[in-house]
Amino acid sequence: MNTNTKYLGIELKSPIIVGSCGLTADVDKMVEMEKAGAGAVVIKSVFEEQIVYDIKRNTHIVAPTDNYGDSYEYLAAHVADDSLTRHFNMIREAKRRLTIPVIGSINCFSYENWLTYAIKFQEAGCDALELNMAILPYETTTSAEDVERTFTQIINTLRKSITLPISIKVGTYFTDMAKQLQQISWMGIQGVTMFNKSVQVDIDVEEETMRNASYLSAPEDLYNTLRWTALMSKHMRCDLSASTGVYSADDVVKLLLAGATTVQVVSCLYKDGVAKLGELTKGLEAWMEKKGYDSIDKFRGKLAVRPNEKASVAMRTQFMRYFAEIQ
Ligand SMILES: Cc1cc2nc3c(=O)[nH]c(=O)nc-3n(C[C@H](O)[C@H](O)[C@H](O)COP(=O)(O)O)c2cc1C
Repeated sequence: MNTNTKYLGIELKSPIIVGSCGLTADVDKMVEMEKAGAGAVVIKSVFEEQIVYDIKRNTHIVAPTDNYGDSYEYLAAHVADDSLTRHFNMIREAKRRLTIPVIGSINCFSYENWLTYAIKFQEAGCDALELNMAILPYETTTSAEDVERTFTQIINTLRKSITLPISIKVGTYFTDMAKQLQQISWMGIQGVTMFNKSVQVDIDVEEETMRNASYLSAPEDLYNTLRWTALMSKHMRCDLSASTGVYSADDVVKLLLAGATTVQVVSCLYKDGVAKLGELTKGLEAWMEKKGYDSIDKFRGKLAVRPNEKASVAMRTQFMRYFAEIQ
């Protein structure tokens, strides 16, 4: 069965790739992922705080920047032991031991300082770079225009810095989501990953403290990814990697039918182990065989909203169907 897929201009043997997470900081684990059928791996992110900390340490600047304020010392201490040198050595080792593409990742929310570090990913031998743009409009003073401007600045500057293919990993916090996603895809990048996942916040009522909620997705989280993949895949001028809520081979098939170029998995590997990749791959192949498809291109995007179709009407139709059928 031919599951070959071209993603970010790179040939993959499978559209199922492992998203950035703790498991992709471990080269032995990544070798297991390749054996289990992963088409590529996105390495655990380097965080902007790590880069800023490294710059300060090496230039002996101690004052935190405005971006970090009082939380800087906490963040710096938290990430300090995870040195960038070790990270880039890990990428080099992954490149030596894997035959599948290795995609570097930066988690960032501002555009200063860290851009020069993108070059280091290139030097370490990464095949592409995914930028996890964790820009959330938390401040009452932040406007939609501020967020959009930051995206534009980061993407433009980065494109000038490196020749690697670039994918932008976005969240769902855009006021005009379809327009923004399309505009990002027009900026000369090679891919958009939809969606990243902000850490969910919970409250411990006994301790009366804030704490993190579960970091894993729920299977129902797929539906938001599926909706936006179907809406956007025919409107973007770059590849689309669908991420969040993928737990089964059927989920992979659905996202490909909606027009995804690749499908990323993370939570299901934490829950079921790396061998899950084999189950997803076999399930995809079995479905293709049953349906008589000899390549993914034969069905990719079959159920995407067409460019000449009014997206709002397509979504309204689904809405009406749902509410008309439920009494
Ligand atoms: C333990 C864990 C660590 C993660 N670390 C990163 C990271 O370093 N960079 C990143 O871009 N995304 C990170 N993510 C987010 C995943 O790449 C992915 O976008 C998210 O989990 C949704 O996919 P899923 O539903 O398959 O889990 C992490 C997720 C988990 C569960």
